[in-house]
Amino acid sequence: MNMNLNTPTETEQRMDVYASSGYPESDDHLDARDRMRTPLTGDTDEEPRPTEISVRGLRAGYGTKEVLKGVSMDIHANEVTAIIGPSGCGKSTFIRCINRMHELVPSAYAKGDVQFAGNNVYSSSVDPVLLRRKIGMVFQKPNPFPTMSIRQNVLAGLTLTGRLSGSEANTIVESSLKEAALWDEVKDKLDEPGMSLSGGQQQRLCIARTIAVKPDVILMDEPCSALDPVATARIEDLIAKLRADYTVVIVTHNMQQAARCSDRTAFFLMGELVEITNTDRIFTAPKDTRTEDYITGKFG
Ligand SMILES: Nc1ncnc2c1ncn2[C@@H]1O[C@H](COP(=O)(O)OP(=O)(O)OP(=O)(O)O)[C@@H](O)[C@H]1O
Ligand SMILES: [Mg+2]
Repeated sequence: MNMNLNTPTETEQRMDVYASSGYPESDDHLDARDRMRTPLTGDTDEEPRPTEISVRGLRAGYGTKEVLKGVSMDIHANEVTAIIGPSGCGKSTFIRCINRMHELVPSAYAKGDVQFAGNNVYSSSVDPVLLRRKIGMVFQKPNPFPTMSIRQNVLAGLTLTGRLSGSEANTIVESSLKEAALWDEVKDKLDEPGMSLSGGQQQRLCIARTIAVKPDVILMDEPCSALDPVATARIEDLIAKLRADYTVVIVTHNMQQAARCSDRTAFFLMGELVEITNTDRIFTAPKDTRTEDYITGKFG
């Protein structure tokens, strides 16, 4: 599953966006993903899924403050991995390290091994811009581009890839909005501003924008925290569907949400990973008493 994340040649840059932004995936990788499209049974004895991202000894922080103190965990392909833990324990920092958004903060540092697609993402040859296309991110507060229409928002991440024909653009807009479960609500008003949508619709628009560049992984940092229960339920339904085609990592403060929509859950505490295991197991029989104390509301 090697994939070139290094700076592309000019020829590669001109390649069609449909071809995974020009970065060929080996057949191995595709077969693995295809095999994983079966529904989960919740049976904890089943074969683990292939690892999409492998984190080893990740240390990260801001200036002299160390926030992640050597985190090691695997993120499985085509699963939803939930990250829970008290405020300030480093959940957002962790997911931002995975696609190198963390380093956009001026004082930020990160060290360790984050293997994705055959590369350590911190290797000097990895282009962070390309990496962020393969590992997209959805934020807490929906952030459509305020001056852009719904359609332009979906296409926003593709403009760097080169010119698209009108029909290619239409196809991407429709398929991305369908995958984000928003198409039926917006198909007759694609030229209206993205900001004219409700909060829940805006969040699905942001998911469509992320999907449009054909990522392998979608990181979501509390994607429902600004939404009402109905909009939250729609996003949760969507997350469950997305795992057929993508690997999803979701940070959430809502334990019911983790229980409802994730396959595995990681519990973080003060910059350390306390445990990661199947979601049904972590909420019924956690191994560590600190996990039990947190999920039963003794602290946090
Ligand atoms: N830009 C920054 N500059 C300095 N320190 C930061 C910055 N961002 C986060 N921190 C610090 O890093 C620690 C971890 O923050 P992080 O945002 O990763 O936690 P979190 O688990 O996502 O918390 P929350 O649940 O509140 O979102 C906190 O102590 C926070 O104050
Ligand atoms: Mg956070």
